[in-house]
Amino acid sequence: MTETLVPKAEAAQNTPSKRLFIKTYGCQMNVYDSERMADVLRPLGYAVTEEVEAADFVILNTCHIREKAAEKIYSELGKIRELRDLKRQTGGDMTIAVAGCVAQAEGEEIIKRQPAVDIVVGPQAYHQLPELLTRTARARGERIGADFAPDDKFDALPAARFTEGPTAFLTVQEGCDKFCTFCVVPYTRGAEWSRPLASVLEEARQLAGRGVREVTLLGQNVNAYDGERPDGRKSSLAELAYALAEIPGLDRIRYTTSHPNDMSDALIAAHGDLDALMPYLHLPVQAGSDRILRLMNRKHGRQTYLDLIARIREARPDMALSGDFIVGFPGETDREFEETLDLVRQVRYASAFAFMYSPRPGTPAAGMGRQIEPEVAKERLHRLIELLTEQQTAFNQAQAGRTLNVLFDRKGRHPDRRQAIGRSPYLQSVHVDDADHLIGQIVPVEIISGQQNSLTGRLVAPGAAEKEKAA
Ligand code: SAH
Ligand code: SF4
Ligand code: F3S
Repeated sequence: MTETLVPKAEAAQNTPSKRLFIKTYGCQMNVYDSERMADVLRPLGYAVTEEVEAADFVILNTCHIREKAAEKIYSELGKIRELRDLKRQTGGDMTIAVAGCVAQAEGEEIIKRQPAVDIVVGPQAYHQLPELLTRTARARGERIGADFAPDDKFDALPAARFTEGPTAFLTVQEGCDKFCTFCVVPYTRGAEWSRPLASVLEEARQLAGRGVREVTLLGQNVNAYDGERPDGRKSSLAELAYALAEIPGLDRIRYTTSHPNDMSDALIAAHGDLDALMPYLHLPVQAGSDRILRLMNRKHGRQTYLDLIARIREARPDMALSGDFIVGFPGETDREFEETLDLVRQVRYASAFAFMYSPRPGTPAAGMGRQIEPEVAKERLHRLIELLTEQQTAFNQAQAGRTLNVLFDRKGRHPDRRQAIGRSPYLQSVHVDDADHLIGQIVPVEIISGQQNSLTGRLVAPGAAEKEKAA
């Protein structure tokens, strides 16, 4: 989970007079939402700034998934309040909003704990920001938006996106009906809901028109996508992928995050079929023990997951796999943790995330029997991360000597060497010298070496590329 700032884009649009600062916590859906909040506020004259002190309007787009993520919002709010007070001393002002999953989970409590907060707005209600801003300006009355109506939100969001660069996120599905016993998402994001196919395709066409070459479809359970088609039928994620692959300029499609139970045969087949569907799949399993998986209410077992991986690799032998793991779930024994390590050894992940279990208020697991001692959980986390890092390094090193198509998306840290950084089909960062004129292009690169977190490569003559699809 990272913290990101909305990129300072179009400073000249609409001759903006007010400055907006958005800080994003949590998952990619929040990154997408932050970008769309800026889109909603643009017609009101707000332009994005990266300097919080300069901002007229500050939004913290928050994450509630683990305790640490949620708690750090309050220390951040304390600092922002000081900045606001300083501004007030010189006749200025600052409006402060809390958006995202903490806003949805805690609502009014946030204002009680930090009265400097003007607006609280949940993930399905941020299209109401202009209205909430007006109300706040008038009175300290209604300033909480916490509706669960994603269809209203997408209808109300401006069609135009001002995204910059060759890669973009596109939310196609929201919410979750799975109710894993440790997880807050079903409560903060609501029930599963899919955007209609036509509206997704329209947004994708627009992105392609702005030079986007790679789109990552987002959803809490993105592979459960079942958006309505114009003929009233439902479209699966596989069908959506085929339709997107037809859009000129859109060369690469990714999607995240998937649940193992929604990995349909058609979607697996599409991975063998569609060059545009990138060979990288984030498929969290959380744990390797059947008993723990049952307590987690994951609705799949260890062997079903391993069999699924085998089928995916049959369709796409070079598939890079990624996952999420929780260690120290209530009652997890040493032996059960060993089963997680064993599963990891069998799968061989290209990259993965491991978390220490964090009890979340209102979730069933928080009240379950024996909670694990933090020292024990830490030790398990350490061992799991060590194994995952080993696998990631091995996967990266195995690319040495291959020629991979790289989509260059940003400049590197060495302008003297005209370095550019891009993405391999497997979502690895690739560093290449003498390439800074190639940003926005997909170019064959010979991989010289692989490290823990990235690859180093050199440009090769055009035409020498492997097809993006494995031979
Ligand atoms: N929808 C996605 C991801 C949800 S949150 C999915 O189902 O995979 C991202 C990750 O955070 C989860 O996969 C899980 O590994 C982790 N997570 C969720 N709740 C947690 C908790 N209470 N403590 C620790 N990690 C948690
Ligand atoms: Fe949370 Fe489970 Fe839903 Fe993922 S599938 S968002 S972990 S409840
Ligand atoms: Fe966090 Fe909400 Fe995403 S809790 S992980 S920001 S869905």
